[in-house]
Amino acid sequence: MSKPILQVIVASVRPTRIGGAVADWFIPIAESHGGFAVDRVDLREIALPLIDEPHHPMKQMYEHEHTKRWSATITRGDAYVFVTPEYDFSPPASLLNAIQCLAKEWMYKPLGLVSYGGVSAGLRSASTLRIIATANSMMPLPGGVSIPFAGKLVDAENAHFTPGEVQDKAATSLLGELVRWERAMRVLRS
Ligand SMILES: Cc1cc2nc3c(=O)[nH]c(=O)nc-3n(C[C@H](O)[C@H](O)[C@H](O)COP(=O)(O)O)c2cc1C
Repeated sequence: MSKPILQVIVASVRPTRIGGAVADWFIPIAESHGGFAVDRVDLREIALPLIDEPHHPMKQMYEHEHTKRWSATITRGDAYVFVTPEYDFSPPASLLNAIQCLAKEWMYKPLGLVSYGGVSAGLRSASTLRIIATANSMMPLPGGVSIPFAGKLVDAENAHFTPGEVQDKAATSLLGELVRWERAMRVLRS
């Protein structure tokens, strides 16, 4: 049987973001963990406009090609990890919009959170995302990876991110939980 697909979704779309580097740290850990086939899904590349469909996403009556493509992408995922910053104590608008453009595509799948920020480690963003995830019948896992002062852990080009042992261990633990929840939730999706 082929491995379930874990989509690692890079939430920040800023030109000088560190989010890409955070995802590129997490992805090799996920790949060597071995429980999933891992896909990098970059919201900057996806470049969704602000929600512009006339119908509620639960109806899946999408009129625009960008929404149909986004729907097909997220449908492929069996589990998700949002790599998310915190902006104004909240998740970034790019991620909220990407979630809200769809509905059923997210349902009955587990969600891991890798959050980063200043002293807060992105935890306020992660807490809000847990509420939003449950509105879409995702299962947000209670544990996650939280990275304080993430800006100090990247190189000058914001290309390489080097956190500590605490985050490496948290990433491995999150992946183990995602495997368990994905197996359990597959029944709900069948
Ligand atoms: C619009 C904006 C709002 C921010 N608000 C917060 C915040 O509420 N809490 C926090 O810890 N950091 C905040 N920051 C700092 C970000 O955590 C930091 O800039 C981080 O690098 C952003 O992620 P990104 O570079 O991947 O976009 C904010 C940054 C921006 C650009």
